[in-house]
Amino acid sequence: MTIGKIIDGKAFAEGLRAEVAQGVAGFLASQGRTPGLAVVLVGEDPASAVYVRNKGKMTVAVGMESFEYKRPATITQEELLELVDELNGDPRVDGILVQLPLPGHLDEQAVVNAINPDKDVDGLTPVSTGRLALGLPGLVPCTPLGSLMLLKDELGDLSGKSAVVIGRSILVGKPMAQLLLGENCTVTIAHSRTQDLASVVHQADIVVAAVGRPEMVKGEWIKPGATVIDVGINRVAAEEEGKTRLVGDVATAEAASHVRAITPVPGGVGPMTIAVLLRNTLVAACAREGVEAPKGL
Ligand code: GUN
Repeated sequence: MTIGKIIDGKAFAEGLRAEVAQGVAGFLASQGRTPGLAVVLVGEDPASAVYVRNKGKMTVAVGMESFEYKRPATITQEELLELVDELNGDPRVDGILVQLPLPGHLDEQAVVNAINPDKDVDGLTPVSTGRLALGLPGLVPCTPLGSLMLLKDELGDLSGKSAVVIGRSILVGKPMAQLLLGENCTVTIAHSRTQDLASVVHQADIVVAAVGRPEMVKGEWIKPGATVIDVGINRVAAEEEGKTRLVGDVATAEAASHVRAITPVPGGVGPMTIAVLLRNTLVAACAREGVEAPKGL
């Protein structure tokens, strides 16, 4: 029996993409050009290739230009830095995303650091990270910002609420904690070394799980009435021989009986990431042209 609401991230993301598409049309009308997003994919990782293909399709669907740069896993650090530099200087490109993770011989942070912060639609450069920490306007990582949008849509004002973020990654955990702090939550960051994680989670009104371990967060850990954002996307073996299925970091079925609301996997946070990436690209394009981004984005 489900009493908690299942948050429809897919529908929310569709709505956001429609708003971005409207904004892109307005940008084209006022600026006489289309915002452009460049995605760099190094190597042959199949999951990354699927993400990049989807990004390209959705970029075009909202009316923006998509530039894809596929490079072999053998690319050198210097060659990759040269490519980033070329994109920094390309007037058609408003946003640059280097798909992570990069092959082991490449220095990931050095590549990210080379991205012009004005085009940093992933919000991962030290300048973007610093702006977020200081509470200044700037580009914010897509998955945490998408998660925050879902939370605010569900709960309204988050001020004073107790939030636990499980995971401390640069891509999700740390920026998520900063965003929640910016909303005046009381924020705890839990991670693999946290003692008695169950009781840490149990005191939270808001739980954001971003650890990448299938169904690690048990239903009974969640306080009744809490709101849960499950960022995990884990592929596990299905009951049927040879088949797989996707599960989150939270045991959703156990938690759904007593939460206020929870994001499903798939169909929760996942679709938000690309929608926010497109939003960030439009915001970056508006900033470059010195015009205001559409309200409400
Ligand atoms: N790999 C998985 N998620 C992301 C993301 O949001 N940005 C980048 N650059 N790489 C990723």
